[in-house]
Amino acid sequence: MKEINLPSAAKIISLALVFCLAPPPRLAAESVPPPTVIAIATARSQITLLVGADRHLYQLGFGITNNAVALPAKAPDREREYYPPAGDGYLFEPALAATHADGNTSTDLQFIKQESSEIDSNISFTRIELRDSFYPFHVFLNFKTYRAEDVIEQWAEISHEETQAVTLEHFASAAPEFSSGDYWLTQFHGDWAKEAQLAEEKLTFGMKVLDTKLGVRAQQYRTPVFLLAKNGPAQEASGEVFGGALSWSGNYQFVFDVDPHGKLRTLAGINPFDSAYHLQPGEIFTTPKMVWSWSDAGKGQISRNFHRWARKNILRDPEKLRPVLLNNWEATRFDFTEAKLVSLFDSAKELGADVFLLDDGWFGDKFPRDSDHAGLGDWQVNPRKLPHGLSYLTKEAQARGVRFGIWLEPEMVNPQSELYQQHPDWVIAQPHRELNLQRNQLILDLTRPATREFSWSVIENTLRPNPDIAYVKWDCNRFVTQPGSFYLPPGEQSHLWIDYVHALYANMDRFATNFPNVTAMLCSGGGSRVDFEALRRFHTFWASDRTDPLDRVFIQWGYSHFYPASAIAAHVTRMSNRPFKFTLDVAMSGALGFDVDWQKLLPEQRAAAIAAVKLYKEELRPVVQQGDLYRLISPYAGERSAFNFVSEDRRRAVIFVYQIGSGKSDPIKPQGLAPTLRYRVREVNLPAGTESTLPNQGKTIDGAALMREGLTPDNTKKFDSAVIELSAEK
Ligand code: GLA
Repeated sequence: MKEINLPSAAKIISLALVFCLAPPPRLAAESVPPPTVIAIATARSQITLLVGADRHLYQLGFGITNNAVALPAKAPDREREYYPPAGDGYLFEPALAATHADGNTSTDLQFIKQESSEIDSNISFTRIELRDSFYPFHVFLNFKTYRAEDVIEQWAEISHEETQAVTLEHFASAAPEFSSGDYWLTQFHGDWAKEAQLAEEKLTFGMKVLDTKLGVRAQQYRTPVFLLAKNGPAQEASGEVFGGALSWSGNYQFVFDVDPHGKLRTLAGINPFDSAYHLQPGEIFTTPKMVWSWSDAGKGQISRNFHRWARKNILRDPEKLRPVLLNNWEATRFDFTEAKLVSLFDSAKELGADVFLLDDGWFGDKFPRDSDHAGLGDWQVNPRKLPHGLSYLTKEAQARGVRFGIWLEPEMVNPQSELYQQHPDWVIAQPHRELNLQRNQLILDLTRPATREFSWSVIENTLRPNPDIAYVKWDCNRFVTQPGSFYLPPGEQSHLWIDYVHALYANMDRFATNFPNVTAMLCSGGGSRVDFEALRRFHTFWASDRTDPLDRVFIQWGYSHFYPASAIAAHVTRMSNRPFKFTLDVAMSGALGFDVDWQKLLPEQRAAAIAAVKLYKEELRPVVQQGDLYRLISPYAGERSAFNFVSEDRRRAVIFVYQIGSGKSDPIKPQGLAPTLRYRVREVNLPAGTESTLPNQGKTIDGAALMREGLTPDNTKKFDSAVIELSAEK
């Protein structure tokens, strides 16, 4: 982190040099006299701020690292404030709007000081304190920079010592401006079973708003990420692109505001909709983290930045390869017996799966969970289905060398349950309105301490007595339609959206810290709750209930823009009965699993699945789950999709090619290889008894030639696919 107090550009450079040579400061707090430039920098990118002579905080730039930022000749106008508050001259969408204790709706934020510290050799932290010029009202802007990954996390903390509560109406996490130019926005919209679909448009004057008001399972219609490409649609390998991701599992809002002079500001944070927050004196309102990455080498680099950052800093146990699962949901739904499950353990063993995951339907006594109409909330084992309980199942699985996992949905309740009969006021609903059910269920109001504790007990009481349970799938199958709490007082109903999310994180944290050895999948009927804050408590997420591999090509492509393949659970199912090799090849490009009735597969399909698991575990998994991704051909552009992963040392790579329509087979040119290394080319995952028709099969070719000339698998018909391994010579 550089902090430069400058009268001249020359001074900036010399001070920056001194800074580089000097040992990093442990903690430096300074009340610098303005004007001062503050640079929040990674290896290649930088947010440059200016403390003006009037003590307001302005933005000078966001983009390539620049040690030589010159002080502007005259103070910027108020429209350039970095975190603009409402009510005192700022004309556009504000980052902050507050009604002070005396009713004043204006805020005037002035710079007090900045602090910097180095967390380690890669991560730095900067904290800028702003204070209202009249009221004891503070905003702290926090920045964490990840040098090597070119990622900046930003969030705000708001507090005050006024005489009574201050009402916060707007509370963005970040509100940066972008340098002059035209911007193309890519969003990742969708719905259940159609997640993370790309849509790109050029921004024009006015506000474009992307938001969610669904509360729980907030991201069903839109993943909280976007790309902004400058001066043209986003390219994979060229051009200036910004990536943004909000780490928040509740209502969020992204505003892209192009002012009358063509200047773009982006506001990102919790959705202010219906969320006025009454902040008591001494309380701290902490916004979610907004995560940024910038590149002038296209959106492919943005994705690699996010992947590396998430693998190192966000996902649990990043160094551990994700287990291969056999899940019973698609195979049995609610209809299983103990004997059937034990037979599936045999299947898991034969397949080579690491974990068997028992899905929905194992609980409920008075109201057995035999369909989605009843039982949710009653988390005792169904004695008719599983007479010997869970521990018997974990032992039987272990006897076959398979670990046992279980499905939980701890935030939800069916009205047909003992829980609801006992606690009808524990749900989120509005008085005097007909109860609105989705999938026949309601949401537990986690803002009520007793309900939150109950929700935690679902996890505790399932896992504590069964220490051999090695895996949990945490599901969430509806969103909020009637945002009322029977616990919160009338004046604080608008806190529900925000307090729910904090209560949820508290329980997820308890889960992760109390059961550190349990691997966890984040699910919400698919990917309707995937964001980087929830992912801190999980290893993978269930990307979609849509497992038709043709649709998965698009869904996984969409998610790959921000989330690493190690996080994207991808299962082989028989949905739509697609060709089996195509199905395997698509699932092997993520965290592989299976959701099939093993006995119903044809013998050759079983053999292919066993071979694929062996190949994945022995060769592909480390490259796919821990390598860098290069997207080569977009499924949105035509008949095929292709991408490759490269290991960090660049000695191994895997290319995936999927034919989603018929067309001629052009060369696939991998990227990211070491130009001078020589790689042996080997098409893998071929059906038993077939030979590869790849022209260069078995040959050794240098990286430069492979990247220049490519490889031409014989893929021309819809559902043809190829997996090609490249391994550097010793
Ligand atoms: C959700 C999940 C599915 C399955 C069912 C069980 O829809 O996405 O994978 O777990 O719930 O009810």
